[in-house]
Amino acid sequence: MSVSQAEFREAMGSFATGVTVITVDHAGEVHGMTANAFTSVSLDPLLVLVCVDHRARTHGHLHAKKRFGVNVLADNQRAISEYYARTAPTHQQAEQEAGARFDRTIHGTPVLHGALAYLECRLRSAQDAGDHTIFLAEVEEVVVRKGDPLLYFRGKYRQIGVPPQ
Ligand SMILES: Cc1cc2nc3c(=O)[nH]c(=O)nc-3n(C[C@H](O)[C@H](O)[C@H](O)COP(=O)(O)O)c2cc1C
Repeated sequence: MSVSQAEFREAMGSFATGVTVITVDHAGEVHGMTANAFTSVSLDPLLVLVCVDHRARTHGHLHAKKRFGVNVLADNQRAISEYYARTAPTHQQAEQEAGARFDRTIHGTPVLHGALAYLECRLRSAQDAGDHTIFLAEVEEVVVRKGDPLLYFRGKYRQIGVPPQ
């Protein structure tokens, strides 16, 4: 039995996730990409992975910079998720359009204000996997804040305890 891409997407969409924005410095500007193909890999050493489409601008930026941030979005950051799900060469309207503001770590990696958690990651390896690349990275720094997450389930954003709209 062969599985179509639509069936595969529907099945994977049943796996509810949080939502992250991957942030990377690009020529002094913040480049961001909404991603939910993110997971913890190892505790010793501390490793995570994120899968990035070959066509995403972020793909080249991660290869070039080799350091990136993973920002776990809070339930009031849906506009930020939508903003960074649109491919764009620059993201100069991020604050005006989506309310996204950033600090920088000592390594210059962008950190999103108000995110539930932040992980600063250093690229360890990049493995091609079909039309995506698996970026495996060591976690160098984390910040965790109080709050509830933005969720993604069957193609829609959700919040804990709030019925679907
Ligand atoms: C909820 C959600 C999750 C997503 N997860 C991923 C992901 O894990 N990997 C990926 O490559 N694209 C993912 N995308 C699509 C990218 O955010 C989108 O292609 C983005 O425009 C790429 O930006 P860039 O070309 O500026 O890098 C996701 C989109 C949404 C809405």
